[in-house]
Order: sequence, then C-alpha cells, then structure tokens
Amino acid sequence: MPTIGFGTWQIPINEHFQSTIQTAIQLGYRHFDTAQIYNNAALIGDVIRESGIPRSEFFLTSKIWASHRSFESAEDAYAMILEQLQVDYLDLLLIHWPAAQGEPMVWQAQNAGTWRAFEKIYKAGAVRAIGVSNFLPHHLVPLLARAKVKPMVNQLEIHPGYPQRAALRFCMDHGILVQAWSPLGRGTLLRHPTLEKIASAHGVTPAQVALRWCLELGIAPIPKATDFHHQKEDLDIFGFELTPEERDELTLMPQTAFSGLHPDTVTF
Ligand SMILES: NC(=O)c1ccc[n+]([C@@H]2O[C@H](COP(=O)([O-])OP(=O)(O)OC[C@H]3O[C@@H](n4cnc5c(N)ncnc54)[C@H](OP(=O)(O)O)[C@@H]3O)[C@@H](O)[C@H]2O)c1
Repeated sequence: MPTIGFGTWQIPINEHFQSTIQTAIQLGYRHFDTAQIYNNAALIGDVIRESGIPRSEFFLTSKIWASHRSFESAEDAYAMILEQLQVDYLDLLLIHWPAAQGEPMVWQAQNAGTWRAFEKIYKAGAVRAIGVSNFLPHHLVPLLARAKVKPMVNQLEIHPGYPQRAALRFCMDHGILVQAWSPLGRGTLLRHPTLEKIASAHGVTPAQVALRWCLELGIAPIPKATDFHHQKEDLDIFGFELTPEERDELTLMPQTAFSGLHPDTVTF
C-alpha cells in the first residue's frame, strides 16, 4: 500500500473535479481513498481509466456504507462499487462505520454478518485486503472473536490533538495497520502554534509536520487536497525527521480539531 493516500471526501463535484484527480495522479499519488457514500466513484474511475496508467499501479480503497451493512447486501454493494470505479477488484474494502447503536448483541451480529460477506469476497480472490474504519477496541474485540480472516486495516480519525492512543495500541498489538483520516484536522489544525513552531524549526509547513508525525507513529495518512501546491507538499514529507520530544509534544497536545464524529454516538 502506498504510504500516503489521497482522500476524496468532499472534493466539490464541479468542472474542476477531474483535474483535481488528474494532477494528483501526475504528482505521483496512486493510492485513492473512496467510499460508497462519497458519490464520486464513477468520476474517479473515469480519470483513472483515462490516465493510461495500468490499473495494477493503483491502490484503490472503498468503504461499505451503513445502508449495506449486512451479510445479504454487502456483496451487492461491492459489485456496485466495482462497476462505478470501472475496475474488477479493489485493493482494500472497509466497513465504513461500526454498527454501534442500541443492544450490543444486535450490533455485534450486524458487524459480524458484514464481515462474513467480506471474508467471502476475500476468499474468492475478488479483493486484495479487507478491513474496518472507525472501529474502537470494544468494536474490534467481538469482531475478532468471530473472524476467520482478521481485519488488515483500521481507518480512524487521527491527527495531533486527537491521537486515539488506546485504539492505535490495540491495532498495533493485533497486527492491524492504522490509516489516519482527516490527518490535517480538515485543515483547522494547521494554524496551531505547536505545529507552526515545529514546522519553522524544520523549514517545512504545519501540514507536513502533521503528516510526518503520522508516519513516525507507524500510521498511514490519507490527506485530501484540491490545491495543487497542497497536493505536492503532502507527498514531500520524507526529507526531515521529528525529534522524539517534538513527536511527544504533538502526541500529548490537548484535544484539538476533533471532528465530533464518535463511532458510539453518530446516528449512522
Ligand atoms: N473513514 C472515515 O470515516 C472518514 C471520515 C472522514 C474522512 N475520511 C477520508 O480522509 C480523507 C482526508 O480527510 P479530510 O478530507 O476530512 O481532511 P484533511 O485531509 O485533514 O484536510 C483537508 C483540508 O486540508 C487542506 N490541506 C491539504 N493539504 C494542505 C497543505 N499542505 N497545506 C494547507 N492546507 C492543506 C485542504 O485544502 P485544499 O482542499 O484547499 O487543498 C482541505 O481543506 C477524506 O478525504 C476521506 O477520504 C474518512
């Protein structure tokens, strides 16, 4: 999996959409994070097909939305995703959010059913990796107890100011790779004095500091950038290293730029 992915949520669907994806591909992004709910898979599929770059060079992720979170409908959702992206396999398929409302026996069974469908798709060789998103340890424990194939990835909101240390530790202990969604706190983190101070010490930008912090913690970030200069900057994080003190300072920042989306309280 290319370490830095390209987030595609809320890229405005207008006359610039396709050129945003085109410039990302030209700059070297090959890992695209998509989801059923983003409603842009067909447009992304068009750009990838028209790029002339072989499908095998891309790493494509999608996520099953709550509406298809069951054994019965997950396979249909997967077929729909492939059709929209115009590909015959995905590199990574995730359950977008855990079912976590109401009676635990009920939501645990719902996640387990969706996971059985994922295992079926994986064992048939129709997807290269399967995983989850927004699963905290108490969602993962019942899933792991029933799973025949362990989730390979967990995509979580992670950035300085919201490090999710317990979930990260749990995933690392279970061999689950963590990806960071909103690694820049949707942009709101980038004027934080701690990030600005560390950025100026290294002659880089706060965005690069936030992404580098992810890498150094063993987390794969998926920033979104529509601006060409941002896209370029977000790939250029391999020329400096944070000191252990800087890394700790970022990890221990008080809660900042949290999206407010907690898996146990969202309504989907
Ligand atoms: N699994 C989930 O539940 C979940 C939830 C949310 C998001 N995601 C995924 O994670 C991806 C990233 O998260 P996100 O889109 O919420 O937020 P983000 O990547 O944290 O932040 C995006 C914002 O940062 C700005 N930005 C990007 N690079 C920059 C740079 N170098 N300097 C200054 N500003 C910069 C962008 O501006 P411009 O656009 O103007 O360049 C945009 O406003 C999403 O696109 C989606 O694929 C997953």
